[in-house]
Amino acid sequence: MRKICVIGVGYVGLVTGTCFADLGNQVTCLDIAEDKIEKLRRGEMPIYEPGLEELVARNVAAQRLIFTTDYRQAVPDADFIFIAVGTPSGVDGEADLQYVRMAAESIAETLTHYAIIVNKSTVPVGTGDSVAEILIERGKQPGVDFDVVSNPEFLREGSAVYDFMQPDRVVLGATNHEAADKVAQLYLPLRCPIMITDLRTAEMIKYASNAFLATRISFINEMAAICEKLGADIKEVAAGMGMDKRIGRAFLDAGIGFGGSCFPKDVKALTWMAEVNGRHPQLLRAVMDINRDQRRQVIAKLRELLGALRGKTIALWGLAFKPNTDDVREAPALDIIHILQNEGAQIRAYDPVAMPAARRVTQGITFYESAYAAAEGADALVLLTEWNEFKQMDMARVAAALKQKFLVDGRNIYEPDKMQELGMVYRGIGRGY
Ligand SMILES: NC(=O)c1ccc[n+]([C@@H]2O[C@H](COP(=O)([O-])OP(=O)(O)OC[C@H]3O[C@@H](n4cnc5c(N)ncnc54)[C@H](O)[C@@H]3O)[C@@H](O)[C@H]2O)c1
Repeated sequence: MRKICVIGVGYVGLVTGTCFADLGNQVTCLDIAEDKIEKLRRGEMPIYEPGLEELVARNVAAQRLIFTTDYRQAVPDADFIFIAVGTPSGVDGEADLQYVRMAAESIAETLTHYAIIVNKSTVPVGTGDSVAEILIERGKQPGVDFDVVSNPEFLREGSAVYDFMQPDRVVLGATNHEAADKVAQLYLPLRCPIMITDLRTAEMIKYASNAFLATRISFINEMAAICEKLGADIKEVAAGMGMDKRIGRAFLDAGIGFGGSCFPKDVKALTWMAEVNGRHPQLLRAVMDINRDQRRQVIAKLRELLGALRGKTIALWGLAFKPNTDDVREAPALDIIHILQNEGAQIRAYDPVAMPAARRVTQGITFYESAYAAAEGADALVLLTEWNEFKQMDMARVAAALKQKFLVDGRNIYEPDKMQELGMVYRGIGRGY
């Protein structure tokens, strides 16, 4: 049993801490957000993540998992201190490192014996060294009082517990190889490949991975735009491409583009890192440009169907940036809502779990407790997030509820022929309809 402290109880920190507790370690999760820690102490979840609530309850009951806001309680005892705080976009697209710096300063002030500081936050290349410098400035000696290991996280919101427990690989980067080996021991029960590199290479693996996945999405979206003009169907194009083992099928779903707290900010941060180092990251810029255009396509399709959008009522299904999460950070829905409201449209919306989060960051939207209710009397229905619930709808009932039977399928989940049989005018992304 090792003693682990995890700093930040967001999507990454809470999953990491809970899963390490489940693997038999003694874990203290720390956050400066008192409301989140209070909730966790009451047995409530500050985030929605399938399977997490049960896992937290089990490990709290087994006394392997506790929550605190106090660094003095969490740090002195710990053998491993994981930093899992947010690294949002700064004004120029650079990663804002204020939370990582604050966490490193607090660790430096409360550290009493040797511990390995493991950076799980996605941080610009070189941040591991900066964290070490913060500790050195405060009198701590590398190799004696601490070592820094980079351990980028690859979990996906919506399947975070599964991804943590069944990772494709664990990447560890360190100056001191022995420290990386000790962190590797924590992951041995997972029986997955473990790759050990230097600090900067580990940090770069995370950015390159996310940039590549985002590139695949923008690539297929560019193909979708071409398909639409040429009368080909992008879904079948992607299926045909994906059968090629060199290509694979993952991340080839055309739609309204990627969002969330990772891809946009990580592509922007990598672009920034390239630019300040004198490089011209044309591909990364194109990835972001294409992604932005995908949102506009929804508006263009609505205008084509409805003419001017002023006074029109648009029903939106899905607000989360992807299914199985309540996260609306950088969600395509938010951009689309913004444009629709600017054009004077009224919005009726429904999402299975993300409505509370969406309420906090939008105004003037009417939220409904069911997808059917949101569609009632609307001039058009737009599918924005491909929750399973929306795949199982009685679309004849939906067609009957709409004032005008216009359907914009932003994730290509419906069969165009079937929708037309129901009297709907269907518009997908890159499908020739
Ligand atoms: N969300 C994902 O799917 C995902 C996946 C892989 C990597 N990441 C990376 O992991 C990091 C965390 O992401 P997240 O989505 O979990 O963030 P989040 O915003 O959900 O959570 C971050 C938490 O850190 C806390 N915090 C901030 N400063 C603190 C401090 N000084 N001390 C203690 N707590 C502090 C905040 O209160 C918050 O609860 C980011 O760098 C992100 O890029 C995220």
